[in-house]
Amino acid sequence: MYYTDSKVENLYRIFDQNERKDYLRLDLNENPGGLPQEFISSVLKDVTPQFVAQYPETLHFSEVLAAHLGTDIHHLCLVNGSAEGIRYIIQAFTSQGGRIVGVVPSYFMFQVYSEMYGRNFIKVPYNEDLSMDVENIIAEMTDDTQLLILLNPNNPMGNVYSDEEFEKIMQTAKERQITVLIDEAYHYFYPGTFIRYALEEDHVFVTRTFSKLFSMAGCRLGYVVGWPDGVKMVQKMCTPHNTNAFAMKFADAVLSTPGMLEELIKKFSEGRDYIIKWLDDNGYSHKGEAGNFIFIKPKTDAKTIVDRMKLEKKILIKTYPDVGDFGNCLRVTIGERRFMEQFTAALGEIDKETP
Ligand SMILES: Cc1ncc(COP(=O)(O)O)c(C=O)c1O
Repeated sequence: MYYTDSKVENLYRIFDQNERKDYLRLDLNENPGGLPQEFISSVLKDVTPQFVAQYPETLHFSEVLAAHLGTDIHHLCLVNGSAEGIRYIIQAFTSQGGRIVGVVPSYFMFQVYSEMYGRNFIKVPYNEDLSMDVENIIAEMTDDTQLLILLNPNNPMGNVYSDEEFEKIMQTAKERQITVLIDEAYHYFYPGTFIRYALEEDHVFVTRTFSKLFSMAGCRLGYVVGWPDGVKMVQKMCTPHNTNAFAMKFADAVLSTPGMLEELIKKFSEGRDYIIKWLDDNGYSHKGEAGNFIFIKPKTDAKTIVDRMKLEKKILIKTYPDVGDFGNCLRVTIGERRFMEQFTAALGEIDKETP
């Protein structure tokens, strides 16, 4: 008899992300402008046939990245986008039917992987006012919990944890022997980090990505930071040569070019300041801008706005249903100011109540 895994068969996945190139893409938290063209051209200038022909070499880039993080390569595993690292941590540090605790709404792949591997994902919901009560997280951290997943900042809620809140959670995790995965995909947009736990303690991982501030989502590159034995476990899960040579070359160049990161942060911050001011001036409630995205409570129907933005303005944004007291709202990626101006001009035109 042919065998198919019913968990995979019944899994819900979205594959509808093609043909976005002619749009202003404010739906997936990429950098809509990307890295400067001169920079891209200069990185590609010395690509040789040999570079393309040989399997990617990771040592040099791992050392560059480790130096950037103030650690050594034994605390690091490169992955093909942080989503890959998250998958391996779930596979290697939880069992069939094992208990995983995470907040909702959040990055959906945590639940997808949990379902794919038959894990028991326990949801800790946000409060009506979109705040997160850490006591609710702690209450779910039972002795039989294997993995706790936290995001700082969270996507899509954009909330962050204070040092005190985090310390309390981490103490509980240690007492109850729960591995902790901290997703810092949106680090750099918000400077706070809990990477020190992953560098100093066992059974704590941080995942990060080059897809967001580094503007390299098309390259697929991320990394897992953790204690050396845990990192080795993740490395064992990886497919051979899992990270792309071009991705590492671009990431190396961004990290090694003086002022590059600062410039990316500056351009992003100008865009964030602009959109927040515009929303305030135009009577919009908004939340969660610690990452490179923002929740906006629209004045009219959210789904109609998303559809009209796409059709009439060639702008892609997302709608989220039932987000606490925001109801059905918009989530919009924040990018440099010129793109935010394009978006706010469109929103001002489309989101108008009929008199
Ligand atoms: C919270 C969070 N984690 C991880 C990822 C995955 O990023 P990547 O696989 O591109 O590194 C995303 C992507 O949007 C995200 O929002």
